[in-house]
Amino acid sequence: MTTIAQRKITVVGAGYVGMSAAQKCAEKNLAAEVVLIDILDGRAKGIALDLNQAAAIEGYTTRVTGTSDAKDTHGSDLFIVTAGLPRKPGMSRSDLLGTNGKIITQVADYVRNGSPDAFVIVVTNPLDTMVHLMRVKTGFPAKRVIGMAGVLDSARFSWFIAEKTGANVRDVDAMVLGAHGDEMVPMPRYCTVNGVELGALVDKASIDAMADRTRKGGAEIVALLKTGSAFYAPASASVAMAASILNDEKRLLPCACLLNGQYGFEGMYMGVPAILGKDGVEKVVELPLDTEARIGMQKCAGAIQKDLGALRDLGLL
Ligand code: LAC
Repeated sequence: MTTIAQRKITVVGAGYVGMSAAQKCAEKNLAAEVVLIDILDGRAKGIALDLNQAAAIEGYTTRVTGTSDAKDTHGSDLFIVTAGLPRKPGMSRSDLLGTNGKIITQVADYVRNGSPDAFVIVVTNPLDTMVHLMRVKTGFPAKRVIGMAGVLDSARFSWFIAEKTGANVRDVDAMVLGAHGDEMVPMPRYCTVNGVELGALVDKASIDAMADRTRKGGAEIVALLKTGSAFYAPASASVAMAASILNDEKRLLPCACLLNGQYGFEGMYMGVPAILGKDGVEKVVELPLDTEARIGMQKCAGAIQKDLGALRDLGLL
């Protein structure tokens, strides 16, 4: 593993998620160099220059490079892939399959050729399908190709729990599994406030309402913004995953991993708790599920299979 002084992270896509992720990587001094690549060369270069100028004030030593040239990404230790169109109000994440599938295929090409040992964190929607596509197109071992979503969805649930209970959000631990879509499975049974079970603090109807708001958490922000979708929390989530891998923090984070029999699923990506460390996904943690959660996971699997089928019909997989 490279030291911080040599580390190179590439953020693909200089939209709101990408630029926020680049900023957080720099502010955390996560790498010596952060490359921000976008088809809009001026945008990538402009954001990079702005972030480099902020370094004098923030005190980070990370150098940010803006580019549209894939060669500049070569030798990266880790990619955070955010490129693709976001949803518009009324669209589902699956509506983005064709457009974003083509983009992921192009990105996979230069990831594979220029950075054969890299880790890849995929943020682009529809998440569970795009991470699957990235893994197939790079041919990388599954432990190095991981989807971001569970950390984001769990953070949303945590925020609602903090608001409802009046507790500090730092004391809230929440868990959301399954797909990054309307079928996602919030797991109140595994949510605690500093060790206290959620059910001891809040009634069932409130828990159900918070779980439902979590499921629709992305759409709520899309509807408010009208153009674009959430970016601060998605960027924070992807950078937390990157930090756990690069600093070998071994955090247990819900994220989209390729399942190999765990939870009864084979050969498909789904959101599950995993230990992320220097080898990428070091372990998928299998939690006991009650009947409701089991049915929820089945529904997620069905939705993901449907999207994978659509991707095959488009000739992209
Ligand atoms: C969201 C997008 C990133 O959930 O899927 O906000």
